[in-house]
Amino acid sequence: MNKIIIGITGASGSVYAVRLIEELCSHGKELHLIFSETGTEVFRYETGISPEEFIGKLNTPINKPTLHSNTDIFAPPASGSFIADAMVIVPCSMATLGSIANGSLRSLLGRSADVCFKERRKIIIVPRETPFSRIHLKNMLELTDAGAVILPAMPAFYNHPETVNDIVDFTVARILDQLNVENSMIKRWNGQEPCDHSSF
Ligand SMILES: Cc1cc2nc3c(=O)[nH]c(=O)nc-3n(C[C@H](O)[C@H](O)[C@H](O)COP(=O)(O)O)c2cc1C
Repeated sequence: MNKIIIGITGASGSVYAVRLIEELCSHGKELHLIFSETGTEVFRYETGISPEEFIGKLNTPINKPTLHSNTDIFAPPASGSFIADAMVIVPCSMATLGSIANGSLRSLLGRSADVCFKERRKIIIVPRETPFSRIHLKNMLELTDAGAVILPAMPAFYNHPETVNDIVDFTVARILDQLNVENSMIKRWNGQEPCDHSSF
C-alpha cells in the first residue's frame, strides 16, 4: 500500500489521525489528506494547531502529504482514475458515516470514499462515538456489507497500556495492520504472560 487517502472528520480523536499520518510518513507513503470543515475545527481544538501547521512540522524524509480542500471536487481523489491503494477515515463522525452509508456525498471526502467503494478498493473507517444509536449501527452494517472495514477507536487493556500514547498506538497499529504496513507499535499477543499488577 503506497498511495493512501486519509479523511479526517469532526469526531473527537484527532490524535489518531496525527499518529497514523506520522507513521505512514515515516514509511515513505504518498498521503492525500482531506479534512472536513468540522474536522479542521476539531483538529485545531484538540491539537492546538491547524492541519497546515501540522503538515509543516512533519518530519518526512521523502513525501510531504498533499492537503486537499474538502470543497475541491476537481481534486484527483474525486476520480476513480486516481489509483489510491486505500482510504482511511479517522476519526469518522456519525455524520460522515451516515452520509457515506447512504450515498449522499457532497464533499471531496465523501466523494473519495464513494469512489473507493465503486472501485472495490480498501476502505477503513474508524468511528468515534459512544453510545451508538440504532441508526449508527445500521449505517456501520451497511458499510461493512459494502466492503468497508469498521475499526472503532476502542482500546484494549490486555497489553497493559501505561500512557495515553500506548492507548492511541493500539488503534493506530491495527489500522497499519489493515494497510499491510509492518509496524512494531504494539507488543503482539503471544499467549498469556505473567504480568505485574503492582500499579493497582
Ligand atoms: C469538540 C467536538 C467533538 C465532537 N466529537 C464527535 C464524536 O466523537 N463523534 C461524532 O460523531 N461527532 C462528534 N462531534 C460532532 C461532529 O463534529 C458534527 O456532527 C459534524 O457535523 C460532523 O461533520 P463532518 O462529518 O463533516 O466532519 C463533535 C463536535 C465537536 C465540536
